[in-house]
Amino acid sequence: MSRPARPAEAVGDGLCFSDADRASVYGVLAARRDMRHFTPGGHVDEAVLKRLLQAAHSAPSVGLMQPWRFIRVLDADRRARIAALVDAERALTAAALGTRGDDFLRLKVEGIRECAELWVAVLAPDDGTVFGRRTMPRDMALCSLACAIQNLWLAARAENLGLGWVSMFAPEALARLLLLPEEAQPVALLCLGPVPAFYDSPMLEQAGWRHGRPMADFVYTDTWGCTPDRSLDEIPLTARAP
Ligand SMILES: Cc1cc2nc3c(=O)[nH]c(=O)nc-3n(C[C@H](O)[C@H](O)[C@H](O)COP(=O)(O)O)c2cc1C
Repeated sequence: MSRPARPAEAVGDGLCFSDADRASVYGVLAARRDMRHFTPGGHVDEAVLKRLLQAAHSAPSVGLMQPWRFIRVLDADRRARIAALVDAERALTAAALGTRGDDFLRLKVEGIRECAELWVAVLAPDDGTVFGRRTMPRDMALCSLACAIQNLWLAARAENLGLGWVSMFAPEALARLLLLPEEAQPVALLCLGPVPAFYDSPMLEQAGWRHGRPMADFVYTDTWGCTPDRSLDEIPLTARAP
């Protein structure tokens, strides 16, 4: 049975999460998957959609710029045209992959036609924010949008809904289809909805396309490539590495 959401003030003094709360958060992080298989005829309640969008909208953003926009695609014809754009890009990707093209074409890389909800995450036209982005303006706006998408992704998993991030499309063509203003950029197609089951590991791993590497390979000390001489697992998280 689903637990009702608790008001924020019920969580300790606003700072203190219980062991169970913590376990839930890490559980959601571990169970989130990029989903491409959706339950046919699935539906997402409007109240749930609202919670997901609120989760996205509570993301951090550079200079509090909030450069995200989310477009819900309700029109069936528009969805079909978006799916066709992705099909076209999938073929171009296969061609670009050379000898791996055929393997790639065997992968399922989107669930646009089947998912209950199709949303497009869009980078809004630049509002000129300088705070925190004087040296990397576009990257910082894009990172902020990605934070919002990730919030939505995790919230969807907490709602037991699948979400798939699809980036295979020509942005200019999608921008035209959605009548985006100049300077706005579509960044992600988000396929959302009930799924028959969550993959228990990344689908690309299950399909033998690529395998994720252990976290310790990605963490250095002080300078690029310098790894601690003891296992990362032995380093207390709060201490400085030697
Ligand atoms: C920026 C970004 C773009 C992605 N684009 C696609 C895509 O076009 N098609 C797809 O099947 N998966 C896409 N993915 C999902 C990744 O393939 C997936 O996150 C990765 O394989 C790890 O699997 P997991 O998310 O289940 O842990 C994208 C993910 C990100 C973060």
